[in-house]
Amino acid sequence: MSPDDLFDPPPGPPADEPVAARIAYLRREIERHNRLYYDEARPEISDREYDALMEELRQLEERHPHLRSPDSPTVRVGGRPAPEAQQVVHRVPMLSIANTYSPAELAEFDQRVRKLLNKGGDIPYVVELKIDGVAVTLMYEDGVLAYGATRGDGTRGEVITANLLTVDGVLKRLPGKLAGAGRRLEVRGEVYIETADFEMLNREATQAGEEPYANPRNLAAGSLKLLDASITARRRLRIFHYAVGDTDMTLPPTHMEFLAWLEAAGFRVNPERRLCRSIEEVIEHAAVWETRRSSLPYNTDGLVVKVNDRTAWPALGLTAKSPRWMVAYKFSAEQAETRLLDIKCQVGRTGVVTPVAVLEPVFLAGSTISRATLHNEDEVRRLGVLIGDRVIIEKGGDIIPKVVRPIESLRTGAERRFKFPSHCPECGSRLVRSAGEVAVRCENMACPGQVRERIAHFASRQAMDIEGLGDVLVTQLTEKGLVRDPADLYSLTVEQVANLERMGTKSAENLIAQINASRSRPLHHFVYALGIRQVGAAAARLVAQRYATLEDFMKAPAEDLMQIEGFGETTAQCVRDFFANPHNREIVARLLAAGLELPNPLHRPAGAATGTAESPFAGKTVVLTGTLASMTRDAAREKIEALGGKVSGSVSKKTDLVIAGEEAGSKLDKARALGVRVMDEAEFLRLLGR
Ligand code: IVH
Repeated sequence: MSPDDLFDPPPGPPADEPVAARIAYLRREIERHNRLYYDEARPEISDREYDALMEELRQLEERHPHLRSPDSPTVRVGGRPAPEAQQVVHRVPMLSIANTYSPAELAEFDQRVRKLLNKGGDIPYVVELKIDGVAVTLMYEDGVLAYGATRGDGTRGEVITANLLTVDGVLKRLPGKLAGAGRRLEVRGEVYIETADFEMLNREATQAGEEPYANPRNLAAGSLKLLDASITARRRLRIFHYAVGDTDMTLPPTHMEFLAWLEAAGFRVNPERRLCRSIEEVIEHAAVWETRRSSLPYNTDGLVVKVNDRTAWPALGLTAKSPRWMVAYKFSAEQAETRLLDIKCQVGRTGVVTPVAVLEPVFLAGSTISRATLHNEDEVRRLGVLIGDRVIIEKGGDIIPKVVRPIESLRTGAERRFKFPSHCPECGSRLVRSAGEVAVRCENMACPGQVRERIAHFASRQAMDIEGLGDVLVTQLTEKGLVRDPADLYSLTVEQVANLERMGTKSAENLIAQINASRSRPLHHFVYALGIRQVGAAAARLVAQRYATLEDFMKAPAEDLMQIEGFGETTAQCVRDFFANPHNREIVARLLAAGLELPNPLHRPAGAATGTAESPFAGKTVVLTGTLASMTRDAAREKIEALGGKVSGSVSKKTDLVIAGEEAGSKLDKARALGVRVMDEAEFLRLLGR
C-alpha cells in the first residue's frame, strides 16, 4: 500500500455510500493502479481485482449518466509514457483487450460477435497464448526498422529502438521477399523473458548485492526503458509477434494465415496457436491450457481469442478501449502446494504486528516463494492453518502471494496451532489489541523492530528523501546502536558509517552528504516523515498549506486541525496524541536542534491578506493538463500552491484556470466547452516570473 494515501489504511467509502463518492473513489483507485502497473511496474492487485473495480465503475456510470466524465478511466486506456523520452504517436492506437474469466463469459462473447455480424452457424476463432510481457510496436519503412516503441498510453508511446534491437527476434530489416509488397509495415508483439533466464539474472543480481526483481515482466519492462542498450542486451529479452498496426500492404484474409505470413517473412511468432471451429472448441481448448501452461518456459496470464476472419473485423469495430473481435480469457491464479514451516510475526513502524507465513520454498508463476502474508490474527483463524500443514498458496498476477487453505487430509498429527504472541517478538513488551480493531500493536516506541521501520520511513523518498539509506543500512545502523531514532541520523560521523560492513569511506561520505542535504527538506516532507498515524504524504501537504511552521502545527487544537480537508476527529486526535507524547516531542526538539530548516513553500494563509494576495493564482482553482516542457507536473503544482492556488485533477465549472501543455487532451476540450480560461506554458511561465 502506498504511503501516499491520505489515510492509512486506505479508506474508500463502503459500497452503500453516496454514488458520487463511490465513483470518485473508484476512479482514484483505478488511476493509482494504472500508475502502479504501467509507470512503476509494481502492481498491487491482480487483473481480476482490477477488472472488478472497473466493472463496478462502468455499471455505476451506466446507471447514473449525469456522473459520467470524459476523464473517467472507463473511457481512457491506462498508463502514461515517460515525459523526458522521445515519443511517437501510434497511427493505429494500441488498445487493450477485454477480459473474460469463465467459459460462460466466453460464450457471451461469441453471442455478441454473432449478433453484431448477424450470423448463424459457428464462428471460427484463433486461440493464442497471452504472453505476460510488455507490448511493443515496430515500424518498418522501406524495408528497415524506422523506430520501435512502447505502448505508452495507447495513443503515444516512448521510442526505444536501440533497446529493441537487442531483443532476440526483432528484425532490423524486412526480408527481401516482402520488398515491393508496400512501403510501410507496423508489426506488434510482446517482449518477454523466459523463466530460466529470469532466475539466472536474479541470482546474479542477488550475488551483486542488489535487490532481486519481482517477476519476469517487471524485469522486461525495466530493461526496455534503460538508457544504456548494452545493459538491455544482457537481459535476454525475446519477442513474439502477433498483430499489425499501420500498413499499406495487403494482408491475408484470415488471422491464422496472417500469423503464418508473418512467420514466413521471418518474424518470431508463437507456435502455440490454434484454429478452433466454434466457441465450444475454444472452451475445450482453454481447459487444456489451464493445466498445460505451467510447462511453458515463459509466463502467460491467459489466452487471447480472436475472430479468424479478418474481413469481419471492421464490422465488429472497437469499443473505447478494445477491439470487439477479440477477447482475453484469464487463467485462474496459479496455485502451488508447499509446507507451512512457521508463522513469524513482524513489527511495522506504527507497532502493528503482522503474521507472515514462512514456507518451504516453491516455484510459482515465475518466481520462488518462501513467504506469504497472513494479514492478521483473524485471517489465520479464518484459514484454519496449523504450523507444519501442507498448504495451497496462490499468486494472482504479480501480487504478494497468499495462503489459500490447508490440506487437512494430509495432516499427520504433528502440526501445531499458531498462538499469536502476547509479547512483541522484537522487544518483548506486552502487545495490545484495541477494542474493535483487528490489528495488534506493540506500544513500545523504543522497540527495535519499530525503530528500524520508522527510520526507513523517515529516510524514504516522500519523507526526508535520504538517498542510499535503504533497509540493509538502516538495519546495520540500528543493530550497532548507532541510530535509535531519526534525530540520531544527524549526528552520525563518516568514521562510524565507514566501519560498517560493506561500507567504505567513499560511500560513508556520500551517505553523510545525503543526510546533510535532507536538512533543507520542506515542512510537508518532514510532517510525513514523522509517521503520525493517519497522516500520509497527501495529508502532510494539506497540513503545510494551513500551518506556516511546525510550531503552529504542533500547538493547533483538534478543532483547528479538523478545518483541514479530509481531517476528521480520528485524524485530529492522532495528531494531538502524537505531540502529547513526551518521547515524540523530545525527538522533534532534537531534530530541530540538528538544524532542520523546514522551509514551507506550500503555506497558504487563511484569507488573502498576505503576500500572495496579488498573485494571479491566489484563491484560484487550477487544472494542469498535457505535458509542460519546462518542468514536471509536480513542480508546477508546487509553484501554483506556493502562490496561493489550489491544483485540482479535473475540470469543472468551479475551475478558474486551465494550464495546457503539449498534447493536452480531453481536459482542454472540456475547459473550452465550459468557457474556462485556458493558458499556455509560455504565459504560465511569465506569470510565475512576475
Ligand atoms: S493482440 C488490442 N495477442 O495483452 C491489443 N495481445 O492485455 C492487441 N498480449 O496489450 C494485442 N499476448 O500486450 C495480442 N497473443 C497476443 C498477446 C497479446 C499478450 C498483450 C498485449 C496487450 C495485452 C492486453
